[in-house]
Amino acid sequence: MIRSYTDYPLRKLHAFGTDATTKYYFEFTETEDLKGFLATNQEWKNLEILILGEGSNLLFVNDFQGLIIHPNIPGIKISYEDRNNIWLEVGAGVKWDDLVEYAVFNRWGGIENLSLIPGKAGAAAVQNIGAYGMEIQNQIESVTGIDLETQTEITFEASECEYSYRDSIFKNKLKNRFIITSVSIKLDKFPEFILNYGDLKTDAEKYGAINLRNIRKAVIAIRESKLPDPGVFGNAGSFFKNPVVETLLAEQLLATYTNMPQYPASGNTRKLAAGWLIEQCGWKGFRSGDAGVHDKQALVLINYGNATGKEIYDLSKEIKQSVQEKFRVELEREVNVIG
Ligand code: EPU
Repeated sequence: MIRSYTDYPLRKLHAFGTDATTKYYFEFTETEDLKGFLATNQEWKNLEILILGEGSNLLFVNDFQGLIIHPNIPGIKISYEDRNNIWLEVGAGVKWDDLVEYAVFNRWGGIENLSLIPGKAGAAAVQNIGAYGMEIQNQIESVTGIDLETQTEITFEASECEYSYRDSIFKNKLKNRFIITSVSIKLDKFPEFILNYGDLKTDAEKYGAINLRNIRKAVIAIRESKLPDPGVFGNAGSFFKNPVVETLLAEQLLATYTNMPQYPASGNTRKLAAGWLIEQCGWKGFRSGDAGVHDKQALVLINYGNATGKEIYDLSKEIKQSVQEKFRVELEREVNVIG
């Protein structure tokens, strides 16, 4: 099935829920639909392209003048299994948390800590979603899609996806050029649970034995207590990435701010908690008009109703500036700003 529109409103198609339109919009549910569209319409070659999943990580500052392509391929299929593992072929349009629920229901482990993350499976593979000690790159076997430049179908093995913290080849070299149609996910029949984040273990124990179902319940409870429901208040989860800085700067900061959270990172670097830095600058719970900073997690910016994309963007600029001035640390937006 395809849907194709001109001057299409985007308010309901992205998590911030601000007003914006796209000049052209194309949605499809089968790879063949996309191939047909690309072969029969040549105009798209002159347009700026944006690939939209559930819009969980987008902020439109202006209307989009190009073509939005929305892969909405459904379906979860078992492609292979052995004694210890099972491989699922997941359509790019599958809601991420539906996949987690399906895996937990079948007692296959590997993604339970990633419960309740908004977005679709295709976007999860772009973003390398992570939470509570788990990152999806560890369960991704391969990613399949259409390369717009060559109009061919390509499968990338996980090792070719250039995964790192909230990053992948699909956000860089292949940005808006590679349309993911399916993701192959490998799950464990005898999983080792990852419970070293905060109080996750004791939280899960409140529901009974430590198992996938109870870990999922605990993760959902933690997320619901800290993160605003995008169905109620427009937000895209973490607006910024946690910054990675040189150990030298981290130590200097720690000498002044002795309770600053710091985590080991690769090489001679440490990861800091952007939420903590933003809170220390006094932004937690801030609100100006309908644009604000969540009062339980300062890393999350909120549209309380009718904020414009520009108002949210301007607020993020002010936050970035004050963190830079106070801590000499540059925050990088995790959210993809359009326009
Ligand atoms: N903190 C504060 N004030 C705040 C927020 C956090 O002091 O307003 C402190 C916390 O007390 C803690 C530290 O900062 O010491 C880290 O906070 P938290 O555990 O809440 O996690 P985070 O680093 O802020 C990251 C991810 C989240 C993910 C959680 C849990 C990024 C950018 N964000 O947040 O992912 O759910 O860890 O693993 O890495 C998302 O990407 O949208 C997202 C929600």
